[in-house]
Amino acid sequence: MTMPDWPLFGIRLTCRAATLQPVREQDLPELADALPSDVGHDPRLELFDDQSAAQNERRLFCQGYWRALGTWSPSSWVLHLAVRHAGALVGVQTLEGDDFAVMRTVDTASWLVPSARGRGLGVAMRMAVLGLAFDHLGALAAVSSAVVTNAASLGVSRRIGYRDNGRGFVAETTGRAELQHLRLTVDAWRSAGHGREVTAAGVEPCRRWFGA
Ligand SMILES: CC(C)(COP(=O)(O)OP(=O)(O)OC[C@H]1O[C@@H](n2cnc3c(N)ncnc32)[C@H](O)[C@@H]1OP(=O)(O)O)[C@@H](O)C(=O)NCCC(=O)NCCS
Repeated sequence: MTMPDWPLFGIRLTCRAATLQPVREQDLPELADALPSDVGHDPRLELFDDQSAAQNERRLFCQGYWRALGTWSPSSWVLHLAVRHAGALVGVQTLEGDDFAVMRTVDTASWLVPSARGRGLGVAMRMAVLGLAFDHLGALAAVSSAVVTNAASLGVSRRIGYRDNGRGFVAETTGRAELQHLRLTVDAWRSAGHGREVTAAGVEPCRRWFGA
């Protein structure tokens, strides 16, 4: 169902075997059920003592969906896209922008159910949102960060052509972790020719929503 008042729901991206559409409220139960234990959450969010780790993560995941919609503005936005493979819901790919009209920079986050990992879907879904950002919204750079032990996330970035961009620390529930920052420029994206593999529909009425 499309909503003229919220055209973002009409966006549809494809890349290789991945199809992405904005997460809708009806997807939440299935996605929350599928939420892997290694996704994690912002450590500043409060946990309920009487809930299990999985219950807390499910609640925070659902709230993250509503927060992204409820706080959307052209100067600060978070787009959560449901990822489907062979018709099955397998994960979420997120694209974020702050002050995009000026910075022209996007950040990403993602997760896949364990059974869908390790066969190139992580690369395909990241490429899909990068195609949206670089080829439809006018992004100049994409950044990504992953703890240094997250070989899969770093593998996705490096496969697409991101370059290392320094290290920092991040607070996790278990303490401090070392973070690898990476950056991909629009020139690197174009020279790799990745955009040819991405199709994007429904973007035109949304451009101003992104500050594009
Ligand atoms: C990160 C994630 C989405 C990547 O998806 P994926 O489908 O597993 O990744 P791909 O199959 O596309 O692999 C991408 C690259 O990483 C490499 N890679 C994937 N998993 C790896 C692992 N466990 N160890 C080492 N390399 C790995 C692949 O070999 C590939 O590199 P190559 O093309 O040079 O061979 C997925 O692993 C995941 O959901 N992880 C848990 C959540 C998370 O950590 N998200 C990122 C932080 S926001």
